[in-house]
Parts: sequence; C-alpha cells; structure tokens
Amino acid sequence: MRDLTPPRDTLDPIEVASIDELRGLQLERLRWSLRHAYDRVPHYRRSFDDAGVHPDDLRSLEDLARFPFTTKQDLRDQYPFGMLAVPQEQVSRVHASSGTTGKPTVVAYTKSDLDVWADVVARSMRASGVRPGMKVHVAYGYGLFTGGLGAHYGAERLGCTVIPVSGGMSERQVQLIVDFAPEVIMVTPSYMLALLDEMRVQGVDPAATSLQVGIFGAEPWTDAVRREVEETLDMHAVDIYGLSEVIGPGVANECVETKDGLHVWEDHFYPEVIDPQTGEVLPDGEEGELVFTSLTKEAMPIVRYRTRDLTRLLPGTARTMRRIEKITGRTDDMIILRGVNLFPSQVEELLLDVPGLAPHFECVLTRPDRMDQLTVRVEARDGELGSSDERERAAATLRQRVKARIGVSVDVEVVDPAAVTRSIGKAKRVRDLREPR
Ligand code: DLL
Repeated sequence: MRDLTPPRDTLDPIEVASIDELRGLQLERLRWSLRHAYDRVPHYRRSFDDAGVHPDDLRSLEDLARFPFTTKQDLRDQYPFGMLAVPQEQVSRVHASSGTTGKPTVVAYTKSDLDVWADVVARSMRASGVRPGMKVHVAYGYGLFTGGLGAHYGAERLGCTVIPVSGGMSERQVQLIVDFAPEVIMVTPSYMLALLDEMRVQGVDPAATSLQVGIFGAEPWTDAVRREVEETLDMHAVDIYGLSEVIGPGVANECVETKDGLHVWEDHFYPEVIDPQTGEVLPDGEEGELVFTSLTKEAMPIVRYRTRDLTRLLPGTARTMRRIEKITGRTDDMIILRGVNLFPSQVEELLLDVPGLAPHFECVLTRPDRMDQLTVRVEARDGELGSSDERERAAATLRQRVKARIGVSVDVEVVDPAAVTRSIGKAKRVRDLREPR
C-alpha cells in the first residue's frame, strides 16, 4: 500500500489549530446555533422553555448539558417540514433517512449547508488519502439517502473525477472498476465484500485492481473486515461516519496515516457522549451514546441529537479534533439474549477468525419454548468447508468463541456461499422472528 498521508499544507488550518482556538470557535458558533434554533423553530422554543433554559444561559461549552435532547421521534412528529428554520424557498435540497418503521425522517439544506457538507466530505476524503485528480467510484446509493450525493459533491469539491455508479448491479460495478481504473471507491463495507466476491466470479484479481483507497461507512464494521479488505485488495480501508439528521456522511473520518478512530469535524458538529439510561454527560474516554449539536447548519439546526450510536470520545492525534472510536453498535440494534447484550459486530469479529467462514452472515432471533434463541447463519467461503463434518467443526469453533467472549450460547449454521441475502446498501444483520411474548 502506498503512503497517502496528505501534505500538512493541504489541510484546513482549523484541522491543526490549537485546542483553545477550536474551543473558542465552537463556543461562538454554538451560541449562534442555539439562538437560531430557538428563534426560528417552534419545537425548540417549546422544548427549551419547558426545560427552563434560554440560549443566553450558555456561557461555556459545558452549559450545553442543560439543554434538552432531540430524538428521532421529535423529528418524526414534525414530519415533513416542521423543523425548518428557514422559509422553504431557501431550501436547496431535501434528503430523508429510512426509518425502521413508519415515516422517514426528512432533512433539509440551504445553499450554504450544501457548501459546508461538500467541504466536510472533501476534508474526510483528503484525510482518507484521496488527492485531487483521482477517480472516485461512488457506489453509495443516490437519491434520498445521503450517501451517494454526499460523497459525490465532496469528491467534486476536492477536485476529483467522480464516477456516480450508485448501488446495485454488482457485475457492472466490477466491470467499471476494471475499465475506468478508479483509485478510490466509496461504498458500504458489506457491499465492498459482495463486490470482492463478484471480482472472484469474474476472474478479476482483487490485488491487481487500480484501487488504492476504500472509504467505508453507513454501517458498523470491524478491524477484522479492514484487515481482510486491505490484504485482498492491497488498498487502504478507511472509516467514514455520519448521519442524515446531522448532515450525512462526513461528520467524522479516520486519517489514513493513523487509522486510530474517526476525527469528528468539531468545527461544525459538537459531540457529547452520554449515559443512555440517565442522559448524564460522560467524561471523554467513557463509552456511551453519541450526541451531536450542529454549529453552522441553517436550514435544520439540530440540538443535542441522540444518535443511538455507542462509542467513546478520545483526544485528537493526527488532527486537533477529538476522535470517536469505531462505532461498536447502536443502542437499538443491540440484541439482548437471555440478559446478555450482544452486537452483530462482535459476532463478525469472531467469525472472521474462524478459517473457512466468510464475512456474510445474519443473526436470526427466534423464540422456541418461550426462550430467546439466536442462530448465526454464516456462509462458508467459496470452495471451503465442503463436507458437513468440516462445517460442523467450524460451527462448533464459532459457538465456543461466542460463549467464551460474549458469555452466551448461540446456534451456528454454516450455509453455502451466497445463501445469505446480499444487501446493496446497508447490511441487515438481524432478522427477528420472535413471537411477541
Ligand atoms: O448512513 C450517512 C452515511 C452515508 C455515512 C455514507 C457514511 C457513509 P443514515 O442513513 O442517516 O446516514 O444512517 C446513520 O448509520 O447513526 C450509524 O448508526 C450508522 N453509521 C453511519 N456511518 C457509520 C460508520 C448515513 N462509519 C446511521 N460506522 C448512524 C458505524 C455507521 N455506523
């Protein structure tokens, strides 16, 4: 893999500013953002009033803890445009995030918001090792999902050549990678693995492709997948994080030179980590639920938005901004199995260490005899674990490791390659077939 560390003089000055300078800028912007929300959005005026706080009460960044949280439900209640802080004519674009149930969450951008978004995605891509002039294959979905268009405008902003492929049609994706020779691919990690399989089907040597950087996000993934992708494709695999409610992709990103967690672009998005039960702000270093407040957004300012994502805040390394550790899961995709908390990403980490098992899997929840049962359906790698004896041995190994590491008994079923339904976007790792109790 080539050293793709960006030259220091190509970074935005704030990326390497002093902490004091960054905190000063945040406080000034936070004051503006809270006032903007309070003055322009009836929901915020009501919720601040109910909590007995006013934007003028913010004297330090710590005072933010006195302000009320915003939840996905609050946004749903204002569907579609109730959270707008500007007249609709000033909205340049809307996106929406698919909810698990019911109506989607609508988000909106002014021209200036789109500008900030392109800037933070361009900054994320530069941190990932992307340089102006590189060709970028965008396989995130285009449309209401923020992945495709978010990546697209960021890549243009950085001065790249964009190949807007969107998701799906794996055969054609691989063909275009071979023919157009992009240096960069932006895609969900699970779809990258599907494309890797497709390369093998087409007889394309993954290590020989033109790809040098993969920017993977929109779903949790592990260092085990990073190792697999980096080794087989001979390219850097870098993590990008974001969510529609905050802006889309480009809220935080890893640096290619360190790959030690994702720097939050704190000059635009102020992070806190809270105890998900009590709502109390936790000190940096402690794991809890990530909460964001936007500092510069015009169309839809967001105050203390509860992401449901679990992580820790860590000090900056390659940049001044603090890092978040790779997201380990969400408070709401957490499986509680007979009292034990378990995340699909933990299962992934373990199964990738079992020879012969492929990274395609799903967690199926059932409830025979009124007891919750989890079955991990995982594929054998192509051409491996041919006999039922070999499969049973691999299944037993995984069962033991889950028991030893997570402390709970699960069933493991090793299935044929391609037997687990592929997603073209985010993988759906949990299938809940439990009868209501
Ligand atoms: O997934 C935005 C995005 C697009 C990010 C492309 C990165 C790349 P939503 O559809 O609103 O937005 O989903 C946001 O996805 O709260 C996390 O649970 C999850 N997520 C996003 N990035 C990561 C990541 C986009 N790098 C939700 N690691 C978030 C783990 C991620 N989870």
